[in-house]
Amino acid sequence: MKVRGLKGLKPLYLTTPIFYVNAKPHVGHLYSMLFADIRARWETLNPKKSVFVTTGTDEHGLKIQNVALKQNIPPKELCDIHSMEFKKLASLSGVDYNRFIRTTDEDHISTVKKLWNFLYEKDLIYKDSHNGWYSVNDEAFVPENQIEEVDGRKISKESKHEVVYQSETNYFFKLSKFQDQLIGYIEKNPDFIIPKNKYDEILKELKSQPLKDLSISRPSSRLNWGIEVPNDSEQRIYVWFDALINYLTVCSPVFGQKISFPDTDIWPPTQVIGKDISRFHCVYWPIILMASGISLPEQIVVHSHWLNDGFKMSKSLGNVVDPVDVIGKYSVDVIRYFLMQNSNLSNDSNYSDYQLVSTANNLTNKFGNLVTRIGSPNFSIEDSVNMFNQGQFTDVDDIIGESNASLLQVRDELLDGLDKLPYSMDKHFKDFEFSKAVSEWFKIIELANQFVTIAEPWKLKEEKDLKFKNYVILVASETVRICTILIEPIMPNVSKRILDRLNVNPENRNVFHVKPFEEINYGEGANEKGAEKPFEKLEKA
Ligand code: MSP
Repeated sequence: MKVRGLKGLKPLYLTTPIFYVNAKPHVGHLYSMLFADIRARWETLNPKKSVFVTTGTDEHGLKIQNVALKQNIPPKELCDIHSMEFKKLASLSGVDYNRFIRTTDEDHISTVKKLWNFLYEKDLIYKDSHNGWYSVNDEAFVPENQIEEVDGRKISKESKHEVVYQSETNYFFKLSKFQDQLIGYIEKNPDFIIPKNKYDEILKELKSQPLKDLSISRPSSRLNWGIEVPNDSEQRIYVWFDALINYLTVCSPVFGQKISFPDTDIWPPTQVIGKDISRFHCVYWPIILMASGISLPEQIVVHSHWLNDGFKMSKSLGNVVDPVDVIGKYSVDVIRYFLMQNSNLSNDSNYSDYQLVSTANNLTNKFGNLVTRIGSPNFSIEDSVNMFNQGQFTDVDDIIGESNASLLQVRDELLDGLDKLPYSMDKHFKDFEFSKAVSEWFKIIELANQFVTIAEPWKLKEEKDLKFKNYVILVASETVRICTILIEPIMPNVSKRILDRLNVNPENRNVFHVKPFEEINYGEGANEKGAEKPFEKLEKA
């Protein structure tokens, strides 16, 4: 197991949900992946920090079994096909991970059985008969009061998916026993679930209704495609019990030896999930951990959903946005930027091509324009940096002040903002409020554009103006250098291209090098004629 970053420190362990393999990925799945990837990249912008990131596919259960049956292929074949698509999506969209886990992996199956045995021996699992409405699509039983009838069909009020009545013998996990303990834990840890409205909702639900024990198996006659219950081949393990344990499997070298953590040097995780699976992660999962004597996750981050022109994306409506398609049309970085700029944790966001194009244009016109301007062969970033290092700009305010006081004012605002930017972005990244980080970042880009527009360095052609001109280029270059380092988690390819063009030493592309004018040494060759454009046209089609 390779942890990215320095060894010996507890890494930030980030997980994404593992994805169902009944169909190919859509943009919502990409969004879940990006949340973890972007947070991880922000962490490792500090070379003293490390991360461990996992993603993967959820491959058992009735849903997969039914689709495989319909397509007349063995379930494992269906899993192999779609699991590969998720893996490809991760690679195409620059999502870096330490392990791509599949619930059909051998070590996962043995971890699930081990945990089952442990809970069974502690008398926390028992067998009983069970009747209820089951939604195959949600892979969950739906309480009677959560069911409605539409056009003669019973559906879940929450997900709108069809439910069928099932009466069978199941194994149950004693969820109810831990209800008070979980309420106590959540109350003591106000950041355990973010955003706040999700925290409040979960706590309210937990306090207002008694938890029922959780059915954690199905008869093999109904569910064949699942992990066999230890010592009972008539039953298969419920897909959610199986799936949640993936987060433990990836730490299993230590977990394999003893059930109770503390802890591998990776556990506990920070877990990204979408709002539709919050009950599984904020109620069932912490209780499974409590019952097993394992410390709870550091945080559960619940993100909202993407709609398509106002409608929920669904296969039946035919309005699912294919992430591979849009990445093909635009660059990966634009998609990453667009999804983060136009969303927040609490409210659903709307996907539209119009909005995507306008985001791409805005980025090109402001950030791209600034980069292109300073890279012009009429200027020299290298000379500007050298003049600064030789102390030639000490009297520059006097020179500028004579002609242009408003320029000094904008410059001060810009440098002050640039000084503060890493701190404000740090807060927003750690809160998973990526759109706020982007908006702070963009304000600085706009200020820098304003600064250059007022200074008009392209008009400064005479020898006497050389110092002024190079100073303007220096301030703009420092803005570009710092902003480009800070936007790396969201736009890793654009960031690399620009920093390569500016000739910034790869060792200096981190949070220890985001203070303006501090030990700067870059720019060689940055203004050469014919040099590759650092900012490729973002819209390809
Ligand atoms: N297999 C379960 C998760 C098990 S984790 C132990 C599952 N899979 S899923 O493929 O249906 O969904 C995976 C993730 O994609 C979830 O976090 C879900 O919220 C997210 N999204 C699905 N549709 C989405 C949007 N339209 N928008 C944003 N995220 C969406 O649930």
